[in-house]
Amino acid sequence: MASGKEVDQFSGTETTGHEWDGIKELNTPLPRWWLWTWYACIIWAVGYWVLMPAWPLVSSYTKGVLGHSQRAAVAESIAQARQAQSGYVQRILDASLDEIESDSTLLEFALAGGRSAFAVNCSQCHGLGASGSPGYPNLNDDDWVWGGKLGEIDQSIRFGIRSDHDEARVGDMPAFLRDGILEQVQVEDVAAYVLSLSGTVEDAEAVARGAEVFAEQCVACHQEDGVGSRELGAPNLVDGIWLYGSDKATVSRTIADGRAGVMPAWVDRLDAATIKQLAIYVHTLGGGE
Ligand code: HEC
Ligand code: HEC
Repeated sequence: MASGKEVDQFSGTETTGHEWDGIKELNTPLPRWWLWTWYACIIWAVGYWVLMPAWPLVSSYTKGVLGHSQRAAVAESIAQARQAQSGYVQRILDASLDEIESDSTLLEFALAGGRSAFAVNCSQCHGLGASGSPGYPNLNDDDWVWGGKLGEIDQSIRFGIRSDHDEARVGDMPAFLRDGILEQVQVEDVAAYVLSLSGTVEDAEAVARGAEVFAEQCVACHQEDGVGSRELGAPNLVDGIWLYGSDKATVSRTIADGRAGVMPAWVDRLDAATIKQLAIYVHTLGGGE
């Protein structure tokens, strides 16, 4: 390796002094345009540190001379949106549910609000499209456990079902096997009878025995023809729509253990205008009465 400065005779450029098997490394200077861009970046960065939030400190950060904050900007635009909505929200609060549904502007506002409130608060249980899952009713269909009129839906949402609210809807199906009211075979028989009500073919003798059990134990809530009772939250058993499932094991389990599904009360969790918008939204999903 050679030492000292050496200028390459062909290009006229200084070498780095490194040499391998006679091949020498040129010390080509950085292009000017590159250097100037680099200096500009450094100047920009220093200016940025001074003006904008930049350096993390132990418990805060350097705020910058301009005091810019994305959080504050978001808060401001939310406040602006609230301001723009407040007129509508007041009208929703003042109008009855029926009045809102018959006013196309208010209805549109309520549906938009209801849809987004549903996605945040209700979809975990009822599904994003409100189509439900076992134990969580489909809110799109014509089958209502507690009622599909606007006021009835509003009440279900407000106070919940078997919730901890004093005005909650209540209705408890006994756990017929667990509580010793029926024997296992009777549970199987009455399950066969229940399934036969919606057209499933079951063993005729079991169905006949089950019909007797049904008349004794079940008609108080599900009625003689099995159509159920909305006051008691006892589902219709003849329509082929199931809250928990249509297979025999599921039906037997409901009879053996009861279910007592819980829907929370929303009256203390959501504001009045949001609850109204939710009731309207659910009512217009397809099954509203
Ligand atoms: C923690 C789960 C859960 C959440 C969250 C929930 N629900 Fe429910 N909901 C239920 C269950 C369970 C039932 C059925 C209760 C029963 O009768 O067995 C129900 C029933 C209902 C009913 C009555 C349906 C009928 O057939 O009469 C309506 C209406 C309803 N929910 C609307 C809503 C709305 C609107 C929200 C959001 C604000 C919501 N639910 C959030 C669990 C939930
Ligand atoms: C005190 C009222 C009451 C009585 C009595 C009663 N049920 Fe129920 N039943 C209900 C309620 C309320 C539900 C809703 C499920 C729940 O959340 O507990 C229900 C649900 C059901 C379901 C589930 C329906 C579905 O869509 O998944 C079946 C099946 C059923 N009952 C069958 C029976 C049979 C059979 C008997 C008699 C052995 C009976 N019930 C007696 C109130 C009653």
